[in-house]
Amino acid sequence: MRMKEEVLRALGESSGYVSGEEISRAVGKTRTAVWQWIEELRADGYVIDAATRRGYRLVSRPDRIYPWEIARHLDTEFIGKTIHYHEYIGSTNDEAKQVARNGATEGTVIVAEGQVKGRGRRGRSWASPFGAGVWSSTILRPKISPYDAPKVALVSALAVVRAIREVTELDASIKWPNDVLVDGRKVSGILVEMDAELDTVRALVLGIGINANVPQDAFPEDAKESAISLSAAAGRTLDRARLLGRTLTHLEAVYVEWMEKGFDTLLDALRENTATLGRDVRVIEAEGEWGGVAVDLAQDGALVVVDDQGARRTVYAAEVTIRPRSES
Ligand code: BTN
Repeated sequence: MRMKEEVLRALGESSGYVSGEEISRAVGKTRTAVWQWIEELRADGYVIDAATRRGYRLVSRPDRIYPWEIARHLDTEFIGKTIHYHEYIGSTNDEAKQVARNGATEGTVIVAEGQVKGRGRRGRSWASPFGAGVWSSTILRPKISPYDAPKVALVSALAVVRAIREVTELDASIKWPNDVLVDGRKVSGILVEMDAELDTVRALVLGIGINANVPQDAFPEDAKESAISLSAAAGRTLDRARLLGRTLTHLEAVYVEWMEKGFDTLLDALRENTATLGRDVRVIEAEGEWGGVAVDLAQDGALVVVDDQGARRTVYAAEVTIRPRSES
């Protein structure tokens, strides 16, 4: 652990004052060094009270997703063990692709407080205001064929659903294949990108955007109705570091289960958590648009839809919108 984190931990473990001497003993450095690290922490936004003869007291933590703040909520073996932190970045996915090409290990995560070129699926842009959301990309190196790569979107959506439920008690669910909804409105989107050869995946970049505390007016005009922040739905500001730490923790758990036991073992959990099932849907494909009822997930995660003519069709990649329930 780095010195700064050790000083922070020594401070954070007590709700009252900790003497400079105690901290210096805990971290094995001089009191002058401790004082310098306290100043660094203050520069990072930590409010630390100092009182003569009593020592230091951690009054508050900044609303930042510093790697060591995420680490407090992580319970993983490899995901999030290396986190690259940025205040502003173009897109964490672009950065992750670069870092992956340079050989980053599996589980490396890129996070940013704000993205200036945040990207959504289908070439759309993704509003990523500073300090308001969880904008992250995780590098995975699964030993799968490129054909199976889309499954990672479903697996990640399940992890996001579980993290949201744990942190907020909101009833989150998956909108097939890679959005997460609360009250029918989008709180999170996932963009999976791949570096692959014909038969092997070199790296997957799993971009997860969670609208944690994004003000409603920060959403683009065409998303104002369909998107919502967890903070608006829960009625309180969320701890973004905790949300991300728990997302990565659930992500590792589902990913390991998939790799070790096979995708089949996740199907029931996916079905239970998919809001799309049992609903009237519109399927928008390159070849055209059609309607039906989503009835199941196939063994490989594809969406099974009975179309308006009564034919059973399997949807692998499409934009699927849920038609509102009729009022009657
Ligand atoms: C979508 O719903 O269209 C997908 C949105 C994905 C947004 C995330 S935020 C972190 C990562 N970096 C990006 O540029 N996009 C993804």
